[in-house]
Amino acid sequence: MKLIPRDKFLSSRHERGARQAANFMTGAEQNSSRGMAGLRAGELHVWLSFTEGMTAVDELFFEQQLSEAERMRAEKIVFPGGRLEFALARALLRGVLSRYHPVDPAAWRFAYDLQGKPFISGPADAPRLQFSVTHTRGLVACAVALDSAVGVDAEHLEARDDLLAVARQFLGVATSRELENLSGDALTLRFCEQWARQEAWAKAVGSGLAALPMSAENAAGWQFFQRQVSPRHILTAAVRRGNQRPAILKVRTAVWRRRNENLDLAVNEAGCE
Ligand SMILES: CC(C)(COP(=O)(O)OP(=O)(O)OC[C@H]1O[C@@H](n2cnc3c(N)ncnc32)[C@H](O)[C@@H]1OP(=O)(O)O)[C@@H](O)C(=O)NCCC(=O)NCCS
Repeated sequence: MKLIPRDKFLSSRHERGARQAANFMTGAEQNSSRGMAGLRAGELHVWLSFTEGMTAVDELFFEQQLSEAERMRAEKIVFPGGRLEFALARALLRGVLSRYHPVDPAAWRFAYDLQGKPFISGPADAPRLQFSVTHTRGLVACAVALDSAVGVDAEHLEARDDLLAVARQFLGVATSRELENLSGDALTLRFCEQWARQEAWAKAVGSGLAALPMSAENAAGWQFFQRQVSPRHILTAAVRRGNQRPAILKVRTAVWRRRNENLDLAVNEAGCE
């Protein structure tokens, strides 16, 4: 999918959304945490939460929401910002799922298939929600669909020396040749677009990086949405094509409200699409 040119990509709506998303908001800027319009078959909902402006205290709040198993995983994360992103992603996932099925966010249980793809294992009466989660520097995102396989990937736009080598290893010959003709910001942007697209598909399929590169034949059964959701972030979501109409994408930017020891997820309407 064609992206908006770099100097124009950030609409004032997204700019406001990205800034405000980092805050813990009150009052008119957030709606109530429950009762949002439901998820219809054929819809793909992507939720964003930016980490800019979050503090160590915020991180502690998110970590307090983790299950015991999740806390053990978080403790092993050593790279800067990694724990916050992991804990935030879990809080976002639980909070988002609870908007579609009215249970406490802590009630959700997750299990992993043999390839590492997570799925909902409880509560028993949960609807057939499919989800995918991604975290990258400064952003976590969660995609949800009803009864349809979904994958999401976000990439932080930053120059790296090894982009071409990574492309040759994972993204296939055609993409590597295309990237070899680029340099600087254009190379970074195109690499991240291609990477996010292929990784979103690989997560939807459930095989992870082992399935790459994605062939045109493999991609045929899937619908892709790609957005530049902040000056530094590319996001792609992949959803299995239905027999009827194309899927509809709805993007929401999450904000958080502290209530005693709990965190409540709300929607920043300014960041909605
Ligand atoms: C899945 C994968 C592409 C994620 O890439 P990443 O850039 O490191 O991380 P992202 O933040 O975008 O996504 C991480 C999320 O992907 C999800 N995920 C992990 N494995 C997955 C899979 N096989 N399919 C779909 N989603 C998967 C998880 O929700 C994970 O979040 P969590 O760590 O908080 O649980 C990568 O980890 C991968 O390929 N893993 C290999 C899986 C593998 O080797 N499985 C064989 C096991 S025998």
